Amino acid sequence: MEPFNVFDPAFRADPYPVYARYRALEPVHRGRPPTPGEQATNCWYLFRYPDVAAVLKDPRSGRSIAPALDAPPPPVPPEEREPFWDMYAHWTLALEPPAHTRQRTLLNRAFTARVVEALRPSIVARAGQLLDNLPPHDHFDIVADFAFPLTLSVIAELIGIPQRDLDQVKAWSLTIAAVLDYKRTWDIMAAGNQMTRDFTAYLSGIVAQRRARPASDLISRLLLAAEGDERLGEEELIALCVMLLFAGHETTVNLISAGALLLLDQPQQLALFRTRPELVDPAIDEFLRLHSPIQATTRIAYADVFIGGRLVRRGESVILLLGSANRDPAAFPNPDRLDIARRPNRHLAFGRGIHYCLGAPLAVAQGGIALRALFEICPNWQPAAAPMWSDNFGFRGLASLPVVCAR
Ligand code: HEM
Repeated sequence: MEPFNVFDPAFRADPYPVYARYRALEPVHRGRPPTPGEQATNCWYLFRYPDVAAVLKDPRSGRSIAPALDAPPPPVPPEEREPFWDMYAHWTLALEPPAHTRQRTLLNRAFTARVVEALRPSIVARAGQLLDNLPPHDHFDIVADFAFPLTLSVIAELIGIPQRDLDQVKAWSLTIAAVLDYKRTWDIMAAGNQMTRDFTAYLSGIVAQRRARPASDLISRLLLAAEGDERLGEEELIALCVMLLFAGHETTVNLISAGALLLLDQPQQLALFRTRPELVDPAIDEFLRLHSPIQATTRIAYADVFIGGRLVRRGESVILLLGSANRDPAAFPNPDRLDIARRPNRHLAFGRGIHYCLGAPLAVAQGGIALRALFEICPNWQPAAAPMWSDNFGFRGLASLPVVCAR
């Protein structure tokens, strides 16, 4: 088969027919060699549900390059260090046990189900405020005017970032999404490094305030939370705030807007969603399955392994196409059909294994509250223009979804 090309605009516009072809014809696929300036593309791509699910849980692969090397890599000279990657190295997702276990335990302790439950009233209030302030004629963009400000303000409140700084924080978050996309350029990397310096300076100020006067936010809780005598270092704490801010809203925006699009397109499913509150959580799972906000994630093989009959060698990268696995007909009957009552629905949109999404309960709660509020204020939204998908591949979502309320 021709090499799988994540840069193809047609693929980015609609990846699902492409996934279906590879699932059927070459589900374990070796990419083409990179052209100059591109990131490595000659990694493995996995398209089928069983392969993706198995690798997510397999300790013979992981997120860090170190276990795949015979000796530690030489240290990077100071002038070549990238502030963004130095910060990223502290992110939970970049770690392997035992460092991962230690950090995840600390985060779990500061990020309990009770914390998420306690946020519900403020999510409901914020969603209501945004919808009460609809622009004239109820003509608005579900992404820019609703999902983005809602999720950003919720995660900022959780972390302890003042609401007045959200415009700046939004710009930083967009830069992170660009750096983590597969189409990163040198300019984007430079912007990512500058963002890291600015965001770190900003968060240092907030951390200093919370040290002096603890509040009820996550920064204060993380400052207090300790595993034995091991507290988080300041650099690590700041990196985790940046990670949570980014992980906590970019993906949830995409869940809300994709859910809205799916319901707009299918009035019968919308009627079920509005009249049967017990279907809200299963509906969120179905939106996540059909339009997974994280379409792909990467693992590095720590040993030679056979996947789908092909030999993947130690040190090689494997791209797990969650968005393809979630539409595999072998795992989901009628995989392209929206069925908000689908049971079982063991989608992989939140991953699986040790890196399973920390924020899954918050994302599900927010998605449900947001979409209920949206269709409560107007049961009959109509598209005001064609929806536009963003050009990102790893983090896939709508860039805009303009609607008007037909009463
Ligand atoms: C719809 C929304 C979300 C989706 C689809 C999503 C998806 C994912 C996925 C697929 C992973 C695992 C990646 C891998 O194994 O390579 C992950 C991990 C993670 N997510 Fe989420 N996420 C969402 C919302 C959130 C929220 C709201 C937060 C925090 C407030 C969050 C924080 C994290 C963190 C910290 C990890 C790393 C966990 C670890 O390495 O142990 N996510 N997420």
